[in-house]
Amino acid sequence: MDKIVVTGGVPLEGEVRISGAKNAVLPILCATLLADAPMEIGNVPHLHDVRTTARLLGGLGAGIGHDIEGGIVRVDPRTVDSHLAPYELVRTMRASVLVLGPLLAKHGAAEVSLPGGCAIGSRPVDLHIKALEALGAEIVVEHGFIKARAGRLRGGHVAFEMVSVGATENVLMAATLAEGTTTIDNAAREPEIVDLADCLVAMGARIEGAGTSRIVVQGVDALQGARHDVIADRIETGTFLVAGAITGGHVVATHARPDTLEAVLGKLLEAGADISVEGDRVGVDMRGRRPRAVDIVTEPHPGFPTDMQAQFMALDCIAEGTGTIDERIFENRFMHVNELMRLGADIQIDGHRATVTGIGRLTGAPVMATDLRASASLILAGLVAEGDTTIDRIYHLDRGYERIERKLSGLGARIRRIS
Ligand code: EPZ
Repeated sequence: MDKIVVTGGVPLEGEVRISGAKNAVLPILCATLLADAPMEIGNVPHLHDVRTTARLLGGLGAGIGHDIEGGIVRVDPRTVDSHLAPYELVRTMRASVLVLGPLLAKHGAAEVSLPGGCAIGSRPVDLHIKALEALGAEIVVEHGFIKARAGRLRGGHVAFEMVSVGATENVLMAATLAEGTTTIDNAAREPEIVDLADCLVAMGARIEGAGTSRIVVQGVDALQGARHDVIADRIETGTFLVAGAITGGHVVATHARPDTLEAVLGKLLEAGADISVEGDRVGVDMRGRRPRAVDIVTEPHPGFPTDMQAQFMALDCIAEGTGTIDERIFENRFMHVNELMRLGADIQIDGHRATVTGIGRLTGAPVMATDLRASASLILAGLVAEGDTTIDRIYHLDRGYERIERKLSGLGARIRRIS
């Protein structure tokens, strides 16, 4: 099993190129199932989860061409002849549930394994099921599978009692081929939803209001093939900006979308960083300064993103003062706390709130990654801890960050992968 070793103490300097967004490319690859012709997706990041999704689509019978270096995935959905998303794939990536809506809308049938729990909480799919039933799907959950059937889906009214990114994406995709109009209230507003909608519109879908909490879809009879380039990854961008801030360096992210991470930029300013924005470039400058501790409350977009919570906890660990971190989206997203404490961090947990008292120095130690963003926070802490920090189980990291150690080395970090 690969490990990553980080030797702390180097202020990061330089530019880093941001890849396409994991949380946009996964639903967009699932949306290709809706088309009557081949699709070409560009700016695809080189991630384990992308390979898993390609395997999932291939398993359904779609033709797949994956030019990893070129960042292009071609999908020919015309040969889809199965509607089964098997447990061995779904349990490694819960986003597999996003084939449910497209398969139902296009083929009238879907059998998707329940995702099972994951490190950051139980993460049910009840909101996905209720939303698709509102469009006329008949769904039973038995023997660990979601079994769904439908004639032609009918447009309906979906009012989510809580915001769910995945459930919004599933019903948005299904509604594009339903008969009549679908209104989705309390929809998730993440930029990845907007990017999915842009791709669907390029295929001929009729969608209004993506990015707001009310989305209206006029169903059409068929969707064509299209080429779509995936939006830049705002969480990867935020992670590298925190890397610049935590090491007291100066980092510029390029090929980014600064307009999609305003809450994160606001917190970096509060921490005392200088922020520069110029087109698709966004920079953080913390040279010669120690960050000030900030308070974080995670919320649905445009609030502060839960996927940046662990990274800011690492920043607070070495900041001036005390910061509180209130995780409101997931019930168990503090798995990184015990590992950060092994590096000397001073963190108290009370339910979904962590209180972090900044200390002058962390010391390197062997730690273990538990989920994707927790892994990132351990690397960030390792960048400033004295000595070596060895991070184990970094397959979590490879799911969502494209070649992170290469990109960090390019900024001067002393980091290496060992098998
Ligand atoms: C998406 O997960 C992202 N994943 C997550 O990123 C992200 O943290 C999350 O949205 C919140 O922004 C992808 O886009 C592939 P939700 P998703 O449905 O769709 C509860 C990362 O690190 N819920 O918005 O699964 C759920 O338990 C990953 O890149 C239900 O109760 O998140 C959670 O507490 C981690 N019933 C809350 O809603 C449901 O049917 C928000 O979940 C669905 C969700």
